[in-house]
Amino acid sequence: MNILGKTAVISGGASGLGEAVARRFIRLGANPVIADLNEERGRTLASDLGSRAAFIKTDITSSDEVQRAIDFSLKRFRRIDIVVNCAGIPARSRIATRKGPHDLAEFKKVMAVNLVGVFDVMRLAAYEMLKNELNDEGGRGVIINTSSIAAFDGQSGQAAYAASKAALVGMTLPLARDLAGDGIRVLTIAPGLFATPMMASLPEQLRGDLARAVPFPSKLGDPDEFAMLVQQLVENPMLNGETIRLDGAIRMAPK
Ligand SMILES: NC(=O)c1ccc[n+]([C@@H]2O[C@H](COP(=O)([O-])OP(=O)(O)OC[C@H]3O[C@@H](n4cnc5c(N)ncnc54)[C@H](O)[C@@H]3O)[C@@H](O)[C@H]2O)c1
Repeated sequence: MNILGKTAVISGGASGLGEAVARRFIRLGANPVIADLNEERGRTLASDLGSRAAFIKTDITSSDEVQRAIDFSLKRFRRIDIVVNCAGIPARSRIATRKGPHDLAEFKKVMAVNLVGVFDVMRLAAYEMLKNELNDEGGRGVIINTSSIAAFDGQSGQAAYAASKAALVGMTLPLARDLAGDGIRVLTIAPGLFATPMMASLPEQLRGDLARAVPFPSKLGDPDEFAMLVQQLVENPMLNGETIRLDGAIRMAPK
């Protein structure tokens, strides 16, 4: 699908990987709608990107806010062609330690954002995308989710995060099958280690160690390298129902 002139709703688009997608989509002539909790970053980014970009404050754990973001996108740009779900939160807790069991509220919160919220964006956007006229590839759009290599090699302390991200991998094929008859493709990217604000919260020494652990290239990924893959997934009509690791061949150690 040609990206020029298309409208893309990007959840979590105010920062990191989602921001890189919004920036690349602007360069390719698309209209990114940044749907993010972070109002300050989202507004600043949208005004930086110019009049083809828009921001709407959205907490993807609120179905009303997700619907509002979809309605806003339709009102502003008339149709939604692309959904890129980048909204997500990290978590690190072991199932139980001497101090106590895993906080259940934390587990539910991670699921609420990384899994249920992402599903809600997809279901409400897909319903509108079904109404699209056929595009240049004879379809109605593309949905891309952001999982993580933790879905495959989750470390100790990542049960909640890994489970939420593995669920996105698990639903990729059935969703692609659900929407195949209507010409909507569904894909998932499982990133390795990328230099985003989420990563910047780690100590410098640890970030260096993580970068050196990547076989080749031994570095943290540049968020625009993630956006490059998003572009390819949108443009290549044969890609569907698949999860692609983007990780420089790293396989995470147990801890
Ligand atoms: N950076 C990495 O190395 C890496 C690796 C694997 C997977 N990921 C995944 O990629 C995605 C993007 O991560 P990032 O590194 O760019 O992080 P980031 O923290 O820079 O960006 C995440 C964005 O999501 C938004 N967000 C969080 N909760 C939200 C909610 N409830 N509703 C709407 N927006 C919400 C935040 O405000 C933020 O702007 C996440 O899903 C993350 O799990 C990142």
